[in-house]
Amino acid sequence: MSYLNRRKFMRNSLASAAAMSAAPYFVRNLGANDKLGACVVGIGGRGNSHIGAYIGDSRTVVTALVDVDEGIGKRRAAEVAERQKFEPKLYTDIREALQDPSVDFISTATPNHWHALVGVWAMQAGKDAYIEKPISHNVLEGSALVAAAKKYGRMCQVGSQCRSNPALHNAIKFMNEGGIGEVKFARGLCYKRRASIDSLGDYPLPEGVDFSLWSGPATYTNPKLTRKRFHYDWHWQRLYGNGDSGNQGPHQTDIARWGLGLDRHPNSVISYGGRLGYQAERKDENYVDAGDTPNTEVSVFDYGDKCIVFETRGLSVNGQSDEEINKLFQRGPDGKGNIIGVIFYGSDGYVVQKSYTHCIAYDKDMKVIQEFKGGGNHFGNFVDACISRKYDSLNGDAMVGHLSASLAHLGNISYYLGEKNTVSVDEAKTVLEKVKSLDDNVATLLRTAKHLTDNGVDLEKYPMALGPYLKFDPRREIFPDSKEATAMTTRAYREGFVCPKPADV
Ligand SMILES: NC(=O)c1ccc[n+]([C@@H]2O[C@H](COP(=O)([O-])OP(=O)(O)OC[C@H]3O[C@@H](n4cnc5c(N)ncnc54)[C@H](O)[C@@H]3O)[C@@H](O)[C@H]2O)c1
Repeated sequence: MSYLNRRKFMRNSLASAAAMSAAPYFVRNLGANDKLGACVVGIGGRGNSHIGAYIGDSRTVVTALVDVDEGIGKRRAAEVAERQKFEPKLYTDIREALQDPSVDFISTATPNHWHALVGVWAMQAGKDAYIEKPISHNVLEGSALVAAAKKYGRMCQVGSQCRSNPALHNAIKFMNEGGIGEVKFARGLCYKRRASIDSLGDYPLPEGVDFSLWSGPATYTNPKLTRKRFHYDWHWQRLYGNGDSGNQGPHQTDIARWGLGLDRHPNSVISYGGRLGYQAERKDENYVDAGDTPNTEVSVFDYGDKCIVFETRGLSVNGQSDEEINKLFQRGPDGKGNIIGVIFYGSDGYVVQKSYTHCIAYDKDMKVIQEFKGGGNHFGNFVDACISRKYDSLNGDAMVGHLSASLAHLGNISYYLGEKNTVSVDEAKTVLEKVKSLDDNVATLLRTAKHLTDNGVDLEKYPMALGPYLKFDPRREIFPDSKEATAMTTRAYREGFVCPKPADV
């Protein structure tokens, strides 16, 4: 079916869809009926990059914007009108936007707790969906998106843009062709300084925000805001966010899975860490930060013959003592700033993902063998697929997003279940040395403990918590030995905002 014919087809099928309003399909007067109509949902920080991508693509036009914060919505709508010389319609409720026949696809950068529901509703309404990482807030939401894409024949891409970057494609090809020998283990790193989000409190809501709608599928706290900054800092409150293992993490765990060829869930997980260091940072031993996700977390994922470890460090790694990591990321012991990336350990060397557009292969002596550079156009890849209707052409489909987001969820499930189980480093060592892994678990634990004490954390007073070792059934997506953990693969939804189970999409 040609591009233009597809538009006619869409027009007809939309006109006959009972779910759609009686409004004519073309309500826009752009005279650009060869363009796909984009609706960008959640237009705070990241959503603005989505807007830019569709304005910059000659095949698309931004016909609608959605934000529950009216102020942000109005500002962006004016900007978009100016940039593309066509005024988008502005909505605060995604459900209304999905009735808009000028919308062919949605592109969403809301907070994490809304991702899956926006995606499922969009696909049910016959729209394609580009959904930011993590694609889900819990495991079953990711499965629901996979099922919806299949059932409704829609394109569903996750916002893991590295999947479209030549740097990654070429580095992974190099590994697959044996460039560093046999590769079974990857370590993802999110050493990203995160200051405290300020103390737990009762703060005023920003004007123009419908907090009930913003809360959506999450528990409505009626209307109590416990963090100072309304936007962005939801990442560190588990009702809405998934901590850095679900924020930065999905980029790195996705690359780790991709490089190791792991198109499945792991067989087990164990996680440890804490939300630590802010008492020292604030010089107040009774200080309570408003976040409740760990800022320090290590998760070990066993895949049988392969393994991924993901490390989150929210405190400073300036001048960190870890020689191997410093060398692989090409910084000395006096190095400053964050370290974010993936290390693949091969029998003959290493491949390091140093940035989204730069990978380096080393031999065993850490001498550079080859470098891989270059970024791509992940939004463009999604638009390609929306036109061609070839699901296989998506570089990061719903399943990719689901498997990678799930690593954050599995790690957090272990951590949350063990949150009260605070342990000394020696106690953790006794447990972790028995856990199956291709990493040296104890060495990683000791490095993590040193990182904390280097940041002034008194581990006797503020110890780490050790989660349970949990077996996972990758096919059934349950923890066969823990009902409690299995219950955490979903959430208690609010009426009207229920993300359906995968079988019910
Ligand atoms: N791919 C990447 O590199 C990348 C980079 C940054 C952020 N992200 C992802 O993008 C998402 C947004 O992050 P951010 O930093 O822009 O957050 P943000 O808090 O700055 O912006 C979120 C926006 O969504 C709006 N919103 C909330 N609920 C909504 C709803 N139901 N409908 C419409 N709008 C709603 C908020 O009002 C806000 O304007 C996150 O999931 C994050 O993980 C991805």
